[in-house]
Amino acid sequence: MSEIMEMLIRRGFLWQSFEIYGGMAGFIDYAPLGNNLRRKIERIWREYFVIDERAAEIDTPTIGIEEVFIASGHASSFTDVAIECSECGRVYRADHYVKEKLGIEVEETVEAVKEVMEVYDLRCECGGAFREPAPMNLMFSTKIGPGKGKKGYLRPETAQGIFIDFKRLVGYFRDKLPFGVAQIGRAYRNEISPRQGVIRLREFNQAELEFFVHPARKEHPNFETFAEDVVKLVDKFDNLHEVSLKDAVDRGIIANQILAYFIGKTRRFLLEIGIRDEKLRFRQHKDDERAHYATDCWDAEVETSYGWVEVVGIADRTDYDLRKHSIHSGEDLTVFVPYPEPIRVKKKKAVPLMNRIGPAFKEKAKKVAEAISAAEIDSEVDEIEVEIDGEKIRVGSEFFEIQEVEEEISGEKIIPHVIEPSFGLDRISYAVLEHAFDKDVVDGEERRVLRLRRKVSPIEVAVLPLLSRSPFESKAQEIVNMLRKNGIFTDYDDSGSIGRRYRRYDEIGTPFCVTVDHQTFDDGTVTIRDRDTTRQVRVKVDDLPAVLKELLNSEKDVTEFGEVFR
Ligand code: GLY
Repeated sequence: MSEIMEMLIRRGFLWQSFEIYGGMAGFIDYAPLGNNLRRKIERIWREYFVIDERAAEIDTPTIGIEEVFIASGHASSFTDVAIECSECGRVYRADHYVKEKLGIEVEETVEAVKEVMEVYDLRCECGGAFREPAPMNLMFSTKIGPGKGKKGYLRPETAQGIFIDFKRLVGYFRDKLPFGVAQIGRAYRNEISPRQGVIRLREFNQAELEFFVHPARKEHPNFETFAEDVVKLVDKFDNLHEVSLKDAVDRGIIANQILAYFIGKTRRFLLEIGIRDEKLRFRQHKDDERAHYATDCWDAEVETSYGWVEVVGIADRTDYDLRKHSIHSGEDLTVFVPYPEPIRVKKKKAVPLMNRIGPAFKEKAKKVAEAISAAEIDSEVDEIEVEIDGEKIRVGSEFFEIQEVEEEISGEKIIPHVIEPSFGLDRISYAVLEHAFDKDVVDGEERRVLRLRRKVSPIEVAVLPLLSRSPFESKAQEIVNMLRKNGIFTDYDDSGSIGRRYRRYDEIGTPFCVTVDHQTFDDGTVTIRDRDTTRQVRVKVDDLPAVLKELLNSEKDVTEFGEVFR
């Protein structure tokens, strides 16, 4: 186990799920500190991708009925290729096993895997031969209700809950594009052989934004905010570009402005929560790598001890999902987009000839005439088929006259396209922890320090009595209560030497320790110690909440706030 993983488990960030029963690959528990860190990351995500956009957040069930995933294509296409050993019965994900054993990338198709297996005589770790490779669907299926029940699936992405609410959402946004809809929640994938700890989970946390735009306007009004940001891009031909987002769009490296906008915003978000810029890049999916619903996709990848890991996918899903759900549900999932000015168009129109229709169609004549008037005509026609009371009737050209008329059209119905930044919160949280993990030497001794950004530190302040006895303890408890009342995540610790306690809080990334010492009882001050610099200043107890809040919400140095003590 890596040093960081050992620390994360020991100090209460992450635990193996079902540990007392031997554990199960692909599941983790968020222990108290990890849970707090992920919640803080979610809050910052919400600021970026909901509050700062014309967007709203919804929360839909984690179980979906079968129809949803038949329409979305997940029931048929959401598969990985699996290979099973004919002797020991172990099952592997083919592309991962090939990469691990042969060091080559294989396309994720049964044919490609079969060819590689034959050419290299690929064998199981036990030496046994593999059976024929086969696709395995990654969704967990379930039954809803008693008896035979109704087939359902645990959702493999939060996005589908948004697409199937689209009709309501359009009304909520007053029929105006663009708008975004976000969802943060659990998703599930029955991974074939998850062996990468927190990186490949069977139950995981997503934060997704589906941003609905006019298909011909893949732009964002705030693109300028990120236009000059220089980003590392690896295109689908493996060319590396280090360019501004504006240049990337102008040179066609990124296909449209809105993809570039979300790449820029994703980068700023990741930097803000503590991902290191030099360990961050955006990689375009190759043509054989994209999900079944995407025409283009850029992953944010971060470098970790597991190699480069995808933490965000920014996909152009076009109108794929809405179109499929419209066909399968029979619902109109279009948006009416008005033109800036109504336009006049010349049209062919069938005008019913009542003097002939009356005698021929008798009591049905009125309905036939109405149906002729409503028929869509785009050329001279010999007959029009109309449906009257469920009966299809062909009406010959002697019953109508084709005229050219001018019509005013005020807009058009379109199915919006979707740009989707989709965040894997578990991988992001882990990468933030890895990027923050550091060692240095303090007072001649090595220390482990988690240099988390102040905004995501699970414990913001630790209050420490210099000595574990009265009156130090009671004063420290009083300060803890005061800080907690001010909304600051505060811990109290009186066990061990002060030096050891500082080290304990350094290791879990607590940015500030407040110490009650002898001088506290002379002049009403305490010390604030900064985790990164280990410098300390003296501050009046009454000023503590304001000072700490300012420190926690900024990058300011602690020495700006009081007399330097050490
Ligand atoms: N919604 C994209 C994904 O789950 O991969």
